[in-house]
Amino acid sequence: MVEEKREEKGPGPELPKGAHPSFLNTIKQKERIREKLSKIRHKIGVYSAKGGVGKTTTAVNIAFTLSRKGFRVGLLDADIDCPNVTMFLGMEDAKMEPVMPLQPLTKEGVKVASTAMLVDEIKRPIIWRGPLVAKMIGDFLENTEWGELDYLIVDLPPGTSDSPLSIMQLLKLDGFVIVTTPQRIACINSIRSGMMAKRLGVSILGIVENMSDRKASRNTEEVAKSLETELIGVVPMQQRLATLADEGKVPVLSEDEFYAVYGKIVDRLPR
Ligand SMILES: Nc1ncnc2c1ncn2[C@@H]1O[C@H](COP(=O)(O)OP(=O)(O)OP(=O)(O)O)[C@@H](O)[C@H]1O
Ligand SMILES: [Mg+2]
Repeated sequence: MVEEKREEKGPGPELPKGAHPSFLNTIKQKERIREKLSKIRHKIGVYSAKGGVGKTTTAVNIAFTLSRKGFRVGLLDADIDCPNVTMFLGMEDAKMEPVMPLQPLTKEGVKVASTAMLVDEIKRPIIWRGPLVAKMIGDFLENTEWGELDYLIVDLPPGTSDSPLSIMQLLKLDGFVIVTTPQRIACINSIRSGMMAKRLGVSILGIVENMSDRKASRNTEEVAKSLETELIGVVPMQQRLATLADEGKVPVLSEDEFYAVYGKIVDRLPR
C-alpha cells in the first residue's frame, strides 16, 4: 500500500522496557488508527477461531440490521486471506479508488471496505506470510476514511494467530460477538477464541449460535458460561440464508423473518 508522509506530533509514546524497537512503530500506528476512527461510536468485531461457522454471515446481517434501524453503519472486511464480504453483498466488481485515504463504497446506506475491492481478480489467492498480512491490516485500518459512524462492524478471519491478533492489538474494539455452531468442536474453538480475546483485553459482548436447531445447544450454553458472557442470539440453519448469500442479497433486507432474528441480536449490542 502507498506510504503517506506524516508529520510527527509531539514526543509520542515511549518504548516499553525490554521491547524490540519495532514495537514502537506498532504503538504509533495504533495511535494513528485510534485517531482515524475517533468519530465512530461503537466498533464491534465478529469473531471465532473456527472457520466456516458464519462470522461473515453474522457481520453482514448485524451491519444491515443496524442500518435498517436507522444507524450510520460501516462494515469492515478484516479477512485479508479470504475477503468474502463483497461476495455476500453482490459487490464483487466494485473497486475502491487506490488513492489515500481509501474511501469505502456504499451499499444500501452501509459503508463497506474490503481488500477485495483493491484487487482486480477476486479468485486469485493471497499467499502471504504473517508480517505482510499484519502490515496490510495496519495500513488498511490506518488509511480508510470512515467519517462519522454509529457502528463499525468488523468481520474477522478465523484462527488465533497473526491476523486476528493484529486486529485485536491495533483496533480498540468495544468487544466481540463470538459466533459458534452447536457442535462441540466449534464450541471448544469458540472458548479458545474468547479466551484469546480476554487475554488481549477485548471484551466479549455475547455469543451467537449459528446454524442452530432453533434452540440453543448445551454446548453453546457452556461457551457462554466459560467466557462469563451471555447467549445473545440463535440463528437457525436455513438453506435460504445461504442461497441469498450466494446470490449476493442481504437476508435482513430481503426477508423480514431474518430481520426479526438479527434484530434481537442487535438489541443486545451497546447503544
Ligand atoms: N444459519 C445458516 N444457515 C445456512 N447456511 C448458513 C448459515 N450461516 C451461514 N451459512 C452459510 O455457511 C457458509 C459459511 O458462512 P460464512 O462464510 O459466514 O462463515 P465464516 O465463519 O465467515 O467463514 P470463514 O471462516 O471462512 O470466514 C456460507 O455459505 C453461508 O452462506
Ligand atoms: Mg468469513
